[in-house]
Amino acid sequence: MRTAVVLLAAGLGTRMKSVTPKVLHGILGKPMILRIIESLRKLRPERVLAVVNPSHPAVRELLSAQGVETALQRRIAGTAGAVRAGLPVLSGFDGTVLVLNGDTPLVSPETLRKFLRRHERTSSDLSVLSFTASNPFSYGRIFRDDSGRALRIVEEKDLDRSQKALDEVNAGVYALGSRAAALVDRIRMNPKKREYYLTDVLELAVRRGLRCEVFRIGSETEFQGVNTMADLAKVESILRDEVISRLMGSGVRFFDPGSVIVHPEARIGRDTVVYPNVCIEGRTAVGQGAIISPGVRIVDSLLGKGVAVLDNTLIENSRIGDHSVIGPCAHLRPHSIVGRGVKIGNFVEIKKSTLSDGVKASHLSYIGDASVGRDVNIGAGTITCNYDGAHKHRTVLGDGVFVGSDTQFVAPVEIGRNAYIAAGSTITRDVAPFSLALSRTDQVEISGWVKKRKRKKAKGG
Ligand code: UD1
Ligand code: CA
Repeated sequence: MRTAVVLLAAGLGTRMKSVTPKVLHGILGKPMILRIIESLRKLRPERVLAVVNPSHPAVRELLSAQGVETALQRRIAGTAGAVRAGLPVLSGFDGTVLVLNGDTPLVSPETLRKFLRRHERTSSDLSVLSFTASNPFSYGRIFRDDSGRALRIVEEKDLDRSQKALDEVNAGVYALGSRAAALVDRIRMNPKKREYYLTDVLELAVRRGLRCEVFRIGSETEFQGVNTMADLAKVESILRDEVISRLMGSGVRFFDPGSVIVHPEARIGRDTVVYPNVCIEGRTAVGQGAIISPGVRIVDSLLGKGVAVLDNTLIENSRIGDHSVIGPCAHLRPHSIVGRGVKIGNFVEIKKSTLSDGVKASHLSYIGDASVGRDVNIGAGTITCNYDGAHKHRTVLGDGVFVGSDTQFVAPVEIGRNAYIAAGSTITRDVAPFSLALSRTDQVEISGWVKKRKRKKAKGG
């Protein structure tokens, strides 16, 4: 079947009470509009056209960057207005137009496929997707006659009290043949809301004797619409539960699944243990048998097998080799490449640096723009002074270097392999392999100084 999609994304999203356009709000890290586009692409439609609001340039830019066609809805006056703005752009397209709301981000390609198949099989002119809602509030209700034939859709505001209990609701997904598409132009303004309701197309089509079907094949969770921040939280928690159930099914251990956020794009190996209050975000991959302790956030990073990330650690866009231990309270900033069996301890910050296998930086250090060789031991309080106020400079530590505590490396500087840096040194020049470098002022000791001072004070001096 030839299919083109019109995605309605121009609404003002007033009920969100947010300055961000509704469809840009993220669902587990990705704008809801992109989650829908991903599902739509699986249907392989001939075209995907999003109707967007001229005062939301960010929506248009995001979609264009993803190669999605857009049409502008110049007057924001309801869902029928949006379809009217979209259809002319598809002129010449001769097939089924699948219209759907841009604020139901959990819609699955399987349900849409089933819907389109039924639309085709019944040779329907107009099909609508519906579901049974335990809480039908805010959805349009499906009215059927005694024989079950669909008659019309009535919006919440136009229902009388006895009708509010109707629980078959409009999912906001429509398949339009050319005859139904032609009727969208004839929809009249709803007097109460002064909007043009796409839902009115059903009654128009029924009246004209077109073949109309309402397929009750959706589920309430899948078609949970986002109108308010509360809906957004609901949708996000539905998706989160799905992701975590899937991971538990593949052998990941969660101590408190309800407190953990894992984005759908993330992967976690079996027998990995995830403590409470953890966020695993973006395209993160965690190997098997890892430990992710409480309060950890990992973004777009790759962690090997058996890695232990200890409490309150942040890891961003970095790579960590097998069996390394990171934290507690460590910060791996972007482009940190950490080898195997590395130990990064508390209050250590790493940025844009490579730490080879077996490196230990156990306490209170800043390692930025550095290349650190194998088995280097970095003492407490080591700082790479990588920034001169204008430029960043590199620090290179060869294999087996020992760095005493409280050392500053004033970059650019290179330390040869197996060299020793004495504690408390400020290293400003390169050090040859196997050398000892030390740069401290000599210690001065004045004997009896304290007693002398006391005597002076007693005399009133
Ligand atoms: C709509 C349906 C309702 C259905 C529900 C399913 C109508 C009149 N009502 O209600 O029957 O049960 O979806 O979730 O269609 N939009 C535009 N331009 C506009 C107005 C809206 O593009 O001028 C877009 C919005 O960005 C949104 C979608 O259309 O993505 C739906 O609009 P919304 O106002 O959220 O409709 P609902 O009240 O949820
Ligand atoms: Ca909605």
